[in-house]
Amino acid sequence: MSRVILGVSGASGAALSLAVARHLRTLGRALDLVISPAAKRTLAAECGAGAEAALTALADRVHPPPDIGATIASGSAPVAGMIIAPCSMRSLAAIAHGLDDNLLTRAASVQLKERRPLILLTREAPLTLAHLRNMVAVTEMGAIVFPPVPAFYLHPQNLDEVIEQIAARAVDLLRIAPPVATAWTG
Ligand SMILES: Cc1cc2nc3c(=O)[nH]c(=O)nc-3n(C[C@H](O)[C@H](O)[C@H](O)COP(=O)(O)O)c2cc1C
Repeated sequence: MSRVILGVSGASGAALSLAVARHLRTLGRALDLVISPAAKRTLAAECGAGAEAALTALADRVHPPPDIGATIASGSAPVAGMIIAPCSMRSLAAIAHGLDDNLLTRAASVQLKERRPLILLTREAPLTLAHLRNMVAVTEMGAIVFPPVPAFYLHPQNLDEVIEQIAARAVDLLRIAPPVATAWTG
């Protein structure tokens, strides 16, 4: 169970995917990566032209979203869990309704049916009732909805510190290793 899936969908906050991938590499976890077409666009728009290459360089396996025959499309693949960072409202809706319409949402569905951790860094603001209802639905199915909001109480000095803390907390939520995120010391 040393493998972890990282799904990257087309919400704002593409830098979160790079930070999560780096944390998982530091833990020595093999990384299965799925980047949606919209995420390729946000990666380029928000992190620069080389961001997608930098992200894929951190992965052990990169799966095209249409490849619904990939290993991670099946519950038989030995996977510890999945993080979607960032998670768009479209992918959230697909997961909430069990659409399994591409490899990213299929792999997420597999984590739910196998009762494995699924962490969704859902990013949108403000939220419609549909967004909120979909968050309730995935929570009822066992996923953890973790909007990427800053830990203001830690007094982050810049955006990089905000991103690092969110990524570390997301990885901690998989509960596959001792926590790495900065903790409130009281
Ligand atoms: C620059 C940019 C920023 C976006 N930000 C968000 C966002 O924060 N949240 C969201 O749900 N969708 C956002 N979108 C829209 C999604 O990319 C779009 O709904 C897409 O269909 C999502 O597909 P996917 O879930 O397969 O990645 C953004 C799109 C672009 C181009």
